[in-house]
Amino acid sequence: MDLLFESRRTLKRILTLIDLSKLTKKDSVLFLSRLDKNFPALFAKLHHLYGEQYDFFYHLQQLVVHLAAGVAARSKKLKQKDKLRLNKPDWYRDQKMLGMAAYVDLFAGDLKKLKAKIPYLKSLGINYLHLMPLYKSPEGDSDGGYAVSDYRQVDPKLGTEKDLLALADALSVEGISLVLDFVFNHTSDEHKWAEAAQAGDPEFAGFYYFFEDKQEVDDYNQSCREIFPTVRRGSFTYLEAQRKWVWTTFNSFQWDLNYSNPAVFNAITAEMLFLANLGCEGLRLDALAFIWKEKWTPCENLPKAHTLIQAFNLCVQIVAPAVVFKSEAIVHPDQVAKYIAKEECQLSYNPLMMALMWEALATRETKLLSASLTKSFTISAHCSWVNYIRCHDDIGWTFDDAIAEKLGINGFDHRRFLNNFYTGRFAGSFAQGVPFQENPVNGDCRVCGSLASLAGLEKGLEQHNQRDIDFALKRISLLNSINLSIGGIPLIYQGDELGILNDYSYLNDHSKKEDARWVNRPAISEEDIAFAKQADSAQFVVNQSLQAMIDIRLQHQVFGIAETEILETYNAHLFAYCRIHENGQKMLAICNFSEESQSVAFSITDILASHKLLDLLTASKVNKSALLELGTYQVLWLVAG
Ligand code: GLC
Ligand code: GLC
Repeated sequence: MDLLFESRRTLKRILTLIDLSKLTKKDSVLFLSRLDKNFPALFAKLHHLYGEQYDFFYHLQQLVVHLAAGVAARSKKLKQKDKLRLNKPDWYRDQKMLGMAAYVDLFAGDLKKLKAKIPYLKSLGINYLHLMPLYKSPEGDSDGGYAVSDYRQVDPKLGTEKDLLALADALSVEGISLVLDFVFNHTSDEHKWAEAAQAGDPEFAGFYYFFEDKQEVDDYNQSCREIFPTVRRGSFTYLEAQRKWVWTTFNSFQWDLNYSNPAVFNAITAEMLFLANLGCEGLRLDALAFIWKEKWTPCENLPKAHTLIQAFNLCVQIVAPAVVFKSEAIVHPDQVAKYIAKEECQLSYNPLMMALMWEALATRETKLLSASLTKSFTISAHCSWVNYIRCHDDIGWTFDDAIAEKLGINGFDHRRFLNNFYTGRFAGSFAQGVPFQENPVNGDCRVCGSLASLAGLEKGLEQHNQRDIDFALKRISLLNSINLSIGGIPLIYQGDELGILNDYSYLNDHSKKEDARWVNRPAISEEDIAFAKQADSAQFVVNQSLQAMIDIRLQHQVFGIAETEILETYNAHLFAYCRIHENGQKMLAICNFSEESQSVAFSITDILASHKLLDLLTASKVNKSALLELGTYQVLWLVAG
């Protein structure tokens, strides 16, 4: 079949059937030209997913109706933003990009108060703000908002849609890109689709995965990973009233949507376009690895999950091309890479680097970090990593066992060591973390804790041990330096700029105490901010050193659209990389992951091709000698000069 020919013919047919009279003349010209450009690809993807279904054409027609409505609803301002972004498609690779992820309530109280925090964000240099899910969700445990009951309703505790629009507007005026969550693998069991399904409406029963036969559930469980094994074993929840199992990859109140049903694709596309039209510039594709399921497979990272995301991307290109996708795939690095493409997700979390920075801090060795990033750091020049040290979730050790094996590291044992190290079960560890989702069968476990607590600040402060406090401060600064300079958008997690410690108050809250991730979701008060401005606090050091690095970064293009090369240091404790800008500018970063002083042959600086070297971090000249010395956890940012 000639897909291109069929797509054009199909589009023509659809356009004779639908009513575009709600579009202004200008909008309809825009819509038709965007369809002309993107419909053939969209048709091919959807045909691949749903072409076998007898009512494929009907659903395709419905989708075009949704797309037209999306264009009609998009404000003039946002259409201008679309134009701007289309003219500068790689805007997210600029060296000025600096992100923060925050909970509206924990960071500010509500949406209105968040608006008042814009000056604080600006003073840090933030121009990308990811707000954790702020939609209506169940009372009590809602997985931190990741169980969405209504994508179109703001959680009343945070404000109203009007407040959100006002905030989006204010952020845009200040040059801050708003990023919202697109939680599309599942809805809460209180979403109206789920309620209709529970009431027996067959149309909506088809929106989820229900099974009457226990054998089916057992079959799927054999090949699927358990994500929250302490919540419930397997991936399914039994519904007493319906006498059925429902697919629930995460919590039992988070029902996985059934994307083998084209009606689900259309319905969720309409919700996605609604979010896009609120004025966000990025959508964080939550749990995207899980969206396609097939029996006897892991039901994670399947090829059709990619087809689906590409199809969503095309819908956005038609309606809201200013919006980019950020992938949240916390999976094997080879699988992470597959979501990153201009046509799929332009941005992606960098979970490999995050986990291995912590790994290198624990072992004081950089071989796994260097070897892994040498293999996996380079991505399409049209895309960007979103680098992070901590986020609202746990740390999972998602490195590649094959690479570890070559370095003489056994993946299973090493993960066990790392879990022990970061949960304080390993004698001599500096870290104060909490285990998360320990699996009694396979021994799997992940780690929670704030940047400062995991880096040793909590212990040092508790024990009034100045040496340990100093080490912890240096570790924090070391991780921040890599996050800011290796290439990509650095994403600061709320409070980490202030050296906030673990918050154990979740243990007193009935709806939170079973979920250790709340230990790293502290509320940030004005006092916390003021405290970090006091010159005698450890938090002041965290804040100042971060701010100083941010300021340096702003001044040099080499931190923006540049290539990254990971370098061999021939020293087990050092990690080095060079950034190379197309204008010839280079920056060589060398990081010492140990408490001891370390040295590296001066020839490592040959890559800078200059006799005069400057360390940007200390603004001091570096003289030529046989060896380059680095003190305790020291970092150098070397440039010619
Ligand atoms: C993502 C979120 C996590 C949530 C899960 C289910 O991984 O980051 O917090 O529990 O998806 O939505
Ligand atoms: C697993 C999932 C990831 C999710 C996390 C939540 O690691 O792969 O998507 O964020 O669990 O804790």
